[in-house]
Amino acid sequence: MSELKRLSGRVALVTGGSRGIGRAIALRLAREGARVAIDFVAHIREAEEVIAQLKDLGVQTACIQADVSNADSARTLVREAARALGKVDVVVNNAGVEKYAPFWDITEADYDKVLGVNLKGAFFIAQEFARQHIASKSAGKIINISSVHEVLPFPGFAPYCLAKGALGMLTRTLAIELAPFGITVNGVAPGAIETDINQSVLRDPELTSALLAKIPLRRMGKPDEVAGIVAFLASSEADYVTGSTYFVDGGLTWNYVEAHGKKAA
Ligand code: BGC
Repeated sequence: MSELKRLSGRVALVTGGSRGIGRAIALRLAREGARVAIDFVAHIREAEEVIAQLKDLGVQTACIQADVSNADSARTLVREAARALGKVDVVVNNAGVEKYAPFWDITEADYDKVLGVNLKGAFFIAQEFARQHIASKSAGKIINISSVHEVLPFPGFAPYCLAKGALGMLTRTLAIELAPFGITVNGVAPGAIETDINQSVLRDPELTSALLAKIPLRRMGKPDEVAGIVAFLASSEADYVTGSTYFVDGGLTWNYVEAHGKKAA
């Protein structure tokens, strides 16, 4: 991997970088040469593990505690990352939570938490990042980690779907509004990826095979398969890409196969 180094000299902030897909993204960007800041809310031990791994890769790092669902704390996170590592060229809005509940049982607190972390956090982090780049007249890249549920309904997860759907619209709207300042904005929409968020499925063979039956490539994705697209979008190879969301889902989103009984002539 060391021969790639397409992110040398760049600084990336990866929210939710202590676990799951965020951890894979943080490590991948570092392997490609970037200095990387991550944040955490509660999982300090996992964050410290990632920081140790990042240091082993020989890159400068920063670890900042932040609750991204609070606008002030989201803005402060961007400022602290820039202070610690000199600047932030790439922000990866990865922090996310989901919670299962039937629609009729969702509480206001759950709604606020899911929308707060997945959407409001990304919004105010992007805003602070844009303000900094507009002031310093420097190019930048915003990458929003959404989900196949940006477009695909997920019964039992209505707030999560709302947040991810809106994140897709944030990606497209900001791509246009920030283009004059040289800031690109793209999304990555993972499907079923082998991380903690899917532990309940992975522990149950029946649930796992039901899920795999819906995925045309018949396997779950690996966190690094998401991280690879993020590294591309963070690099200058993607300078002309803005307003796009890349689905990394083994074909899940478009999987509709109809039993039709018709015969070819
Ligand atoms: C969710 C997972 C789900 C996957 C595919 C992701 O956004 O976080 O819980 O398995 O989408 O449905």
